[in-house]
Amino acid sequence: MIMDDLVVARVLHVLGVVIWIGGVGIVTAVILPAAATFRSPEEHLRFFEAVERRFAWIARGMTLIVGLSGFYMLWKFDLWDRFARLSFWWMHAMVAVWAVFTFVLFVAEPLFLHRLFVEHARENPEGTFRLVQRFHWILLLASLITIAGAVAGAHGYAFFE
Ligand code: HEM
Repeated sequence: MIMDDLVVARVLHVLGVVIWIGGVGIVTAVILPAAATFRSPEEHLRFFEAVERRFAWIARGMTLIVGLSGFYMLWKFDLWDRFARLSFWWMHAMVAVWAVFTFVLFVAEPLFLHRLFVEHARENPEGTFRLVQRFHWILLLASLITIAGAVAGAHGYAFFE
């Protein structure tokens, strides 16, 4: 059996998802709660920025790989009609999760989010870090539900039928 382009695209897609969402999981469940134990807000902010800056580059790279491989499969398998059916909600969910991360990582963060975050973290460190933590949990949960739906759906499970 030969490894065709669609197999390569699927392998890259899943590897990208593992590294990217796995990273979001570690940041959300381990690093942010650990950083919250720092006493001084300056130290907290410096540590958060150092971790998030490094991870943001990994997440940007993986977002590109997942998006390119996803659209390639979509186009080659010609799956566009799935978007007209609610039972393929996981296809909509993949594109939605990808779009939110792409917007945050490539547009919002460099343009205004980082500046806003630093300003608010100086004024109200606890409230700002709580908000950031909540935002990470929501994105992580949405991503995990999407992954569960996509694996079941891609392997033949028909939702609502
Ligand atoms: C532009 C964004 C994306 C597009 C166009 C896209 C497209 C696709 C397509 C066409 C498939 C194959 C479906 C099938 O075989 O029936 C797939 C599979 C999958 N995608 Fe995405 N995807 C995108 C983003 C994401 C994201 C953000 C995640 C994770 C949160 C994700 C997770 C998965 C998983 C887990 C599979 C199943 C792989 C398998 O078990 O074979 N995708 N995607």
